[in-house]
Amino acid sequence: MDRFVIEGGTPLSGEVEVGGSKNASLPALAACLLAEGESSIGNVPFLKDVETLRRILEQLGMKARRDSEGRITCRVEDEEPVTAPYELVKTMRASICVLGPLVAKRGRARVSQPGGCVIGPRPIDLHLKGLVALGAEIRVEKGYIVAEADRLVGTRIYLGGPNGPTVLGTATTMTAATLADGETVIEHAACEPEIEDLAELLVKMGASIEGAGTHRIRVRGVRTLRGVRHDVIPDRIEAATFLMAGAATGGEILARGAVADHLDAVLDGLRAAAVNIIEEPNGLRVRPDGRPGPVDVTTMPYPGFPTDVQAQMTAVLAVADCESTVTDKVFPDRFMHTDELNRMGAKIAREGASIRVHGVEALEGAEVQASDLRASAALVIAGLAARGETTIHRIYHLDRGYEKLEWKLQRLGADIRRESD
Ligand code: EPZ
Repeated sequence: MDRFVIEGGTPLSGEVEVGGSKNASLPALAACLLAEGESSIGNVPFLKDVETLRRILEQLGMKARRDSEGRITCRVEDEEPVTAPYELVKTMRASICVLGPLVAKRGRARVSQPGGCVIGPRPIDLHLKGLVALGAEIRVEKGYIVAEADRLVGTRIYLGGPNGPTVLGTATTMTAATLADGETVIEHAACEPEIEDLAELLVKMGASIEGAGTHRIRVRGVRTLRGVRHDVIPDRIEAATFLMAGAATGGEILARGAVADHLDAVLDGLRAAAVNIIEEPNGLRVRPDGRPGPVDVTTMPYPGFPTDVQAQMTAVLAVADCESTVTDKVFPDRFMHTDELNRMGAKIAREGASIRVHGVEALEGAEVQASDLRASAALVIAGLAARGETTIHRIYHLDRGYEKLEWKLQRLGADIRRESD
């Protein structure tokens, strides 16, 4: 296992290229199971999670390879295999995104039940609700979800959950509905940009979809979909992570390729913390002016403040002037990072469903442990801002969702190196 060693205290500065979106790439690659012929998906980052899904797709009879430009070329060559195996799915719960396309195209799917993870329970009841509503029969056999359907039939389905819409549950239902007989209306659908991007891909393939990006998505089933060329959107969470690194270290960074429209709530939160954000033609620039101020943050489904940026924002508020409150309405227990931040001198206390963050002048470097993807990003931000040396163990969590992170940060002036643990 690898670790990061960071000598903190230096304001970052410079320009960094935002990569393609992990959370748009995964459902897009899975959607290629629906298409006849070859698809070419571009701007897909080189990440562990993408590689895991690529291996699952290969086991499902699809040739999915990187070409010389780094695009992933997908072509289904065998529709017999329908099992997404435990040993791969257990490493990435988003593997569930093959379920909808398999049921719609092959009439059968056997996907290992995804486990939970440290950010909280990760049920899939809404995914199954969508497929059952379309006419699939679902059963659980030895830890596998087995879904079968001779023919899916369009329907009207309410997909809201206890904490609002489900992103991948919307993707599951929307992709399955593209090949169903008749019209499907998904109520309380997720509005994330990644869902809009997936719908754009499916429409290019020949699907009939309206309302993606709103809470009501209308899909009219078609007979076949064909392979196409598509580039996924930039990664708004990676962009936000770099803006937060600038805010926490007091450095000016241009996140090149960042899309302001995908980050309204994040930009609003940073500006509320007296952090200057400038929208430029080729990206977003953070230009701190002293320590961040206090701000109360509550994460919500899009277009609210994203839960995937909550840990990173907490790291910024840990060095803010005064007190802030952070609440996560999507994953109410997604606070694994606070104990590790406190080991660096942060003053964060759990208060019911929220945390109170009492900003300190400076954090102190320490040995800390990564726990999940975004919590690890928060520790990197804290290490960059802290005085002295921080060692972050188990950074394989980071490699799942950030491409060449240490290299990108080094180019921003960070003193960070990867060592084997
Ligand atoms: C996606 O996960 C993202 N992952 C997550 O990002 C992100 O945190 C999450 O959306 C919320 O924005 C990918 O896109 C690959 P959900 P997803 O279904 O779709 C409840 C990262 O760091 N729920 O929108 O799995 C659930 O418990 C990852 O990149 C049900 O109750 O999340 C949660 O409270 C982490 N039943 C809420 O909905 C279900 O069937 C939102 O979850 C499904 C979800």
